[in-house]
Amino acid sequence: MRISVIGCGYLGAVHAASMAELGHDVVGIDVDERKISSLSAGVAPFFEPGLPEILSTASASGRLTFTTDMSAAAIADVHFIAVGTPQKAGSYSADMTYVDAALDSLLPFLKAGDLVVGKSTVPVGTAARLAERVHEAAPGAELAWNPEFLREGFAVKDTISPDRLVYGVSDDAESGARSKALLDEVYAKAIGEGTPLVVTDYATAELVKVSANAFLATKISFINAIAEIAEVTGANVTELADAIGFDTRIGRRFLNAGIGFGGGCLPKDIRAFGARAEELGRGESLSFLKEVDAINLRRRQRVVDLVVELLGGQAFEKRVAVLGLAFKPDSDDIRDSPALDIAVQLNGLGADVLATDPEAIANAHAKHPQLVFVESLEDAVRDAEVVLLLTEWADYRRLVPDDIESLVAGKRIIDGRNVLDSQQWRSAGWDYRAMGRP
Ligand code: UDX
Repeated sequence: MRISVIGCGYLGAVHAASMAELGHDVVGIDVDERKISSLSAGVAPFFEPGLPEILSTASASGRLTFTTDMSAAAIADVHFIAVGTPQKAGSYSADMTYVDAALDSLLPFLKAGDLVVGKSTVPVGTAARLAERVHEAAPGAELAWNPEFLREGFAVKDTISPDRLVYGVSDDAESGARSKALLDEVYAKAIGEGTPLVVTDYATAELVKVSANAFLATKISFINAIAEIAEVTGANVTELADAIGFDTRIGRRFLNAGIGFGGGCLPKDIRAFGARAEELGRGESLSFLKEVDAINLRRRQRVVDLVVELLGGQAFEKRVAVLGLAFKPDSDDIRDSPALDIAVQLNGLGADVLATDPEAIANAHAKHPQLVFVESLEDAVRDAEVVLLLTEWADYRRLVPDDIESLVAGKRIIDGRNVLDSQQWRSAGWDYRAMGRP
């Protein structure tokens, strides 16, 4: 297939490289020259395991090119829209500027028979609106909605071997069948391997995506709400999650209590979903998502309060080590990162914060230059009164008291992700605190 991918961020760059890896001819298009020159040189502009490898094989094969020139889309038959839909400034709704601008600039290059495929997470109703614009500008061209479920850190695997495919296609039987046939060709490998496929209408496809994210966010906030109860009763939320997780109706995954969810998707998607429900006159249906959001944000405050408590009621001028800035391990993404938020809040209280992360320092520094960043864990913990483990990178999960004992000023640690062995730290004389665990 000849494919264009418009938007080369965390989603689009991986999608473009993965499509080339599958044997398609792909052009990735983005307005950001810095991103395009990096991708053109075969260098991933962000950290994503597996991406550098497929970028270099695809670039060497000649099947993958990148450009800022939208006219390059003219040679493609299938056009993926993979631009961001961030939270709009001053509101909970999704900012649709980038999706609309991407389509606007693509329309002049569409021809009959082309398929525009939306991958971005959008408010329900968007696909129907964009389909009309495609039909007007390019009679004979079609639009489908094919939501993306990739997880950062596993993005390449999730794109090449997704756990399901969803196609939202036109109600018109003939157009719908043609869109499905083209997408089947794009995803021939996954389909051949028996990947479950749901072919549905536009609204359902759009809602599948936001519902999945709302469910995951709810699951995390559920266990974090139980962690709050555990904290006042002396119960252990990790053992509780193990026990309820054995019930296959519940399942253990996404039941890790900690400092909560962040990232470019879950937080803004639940807000945009709630805002869309209100526009549709069904605000009450999703009002629980406000509670999900509130529980999530309370976990960050809990860590800040614990730090102040451990420091005897005052964080001012106290040295605090922050291990982890990315919103989760194996990513350099700091969008709505709970770890970074906690570092910023402590800095605001006058604490002397030294923060580190294996991959996210550059992004964190660009957004919060007021923080002090150090490259190594050792430099971060040196003379610290309290150590915070906030993103569970493999190196931090392996941490044992011996590694840092001789460096710190006070043997106090907060395990924001419940990944350390509490017994080990306590028997080494540390004041060890976790989230929802005694
Ligand atoms: C998410 C969805 O998983 C993905 O399907 C969708 O396409 C985009 O949004 P991602 O943002 O990459 O993917 O992160 P995810 O792995 O879902 O984690 C989200 C946040 O939840 C992270 O901050 C993570 O630390 C947190 N989390 C996850 C928990 O706090 N506890 C858990 O048990 C699981």
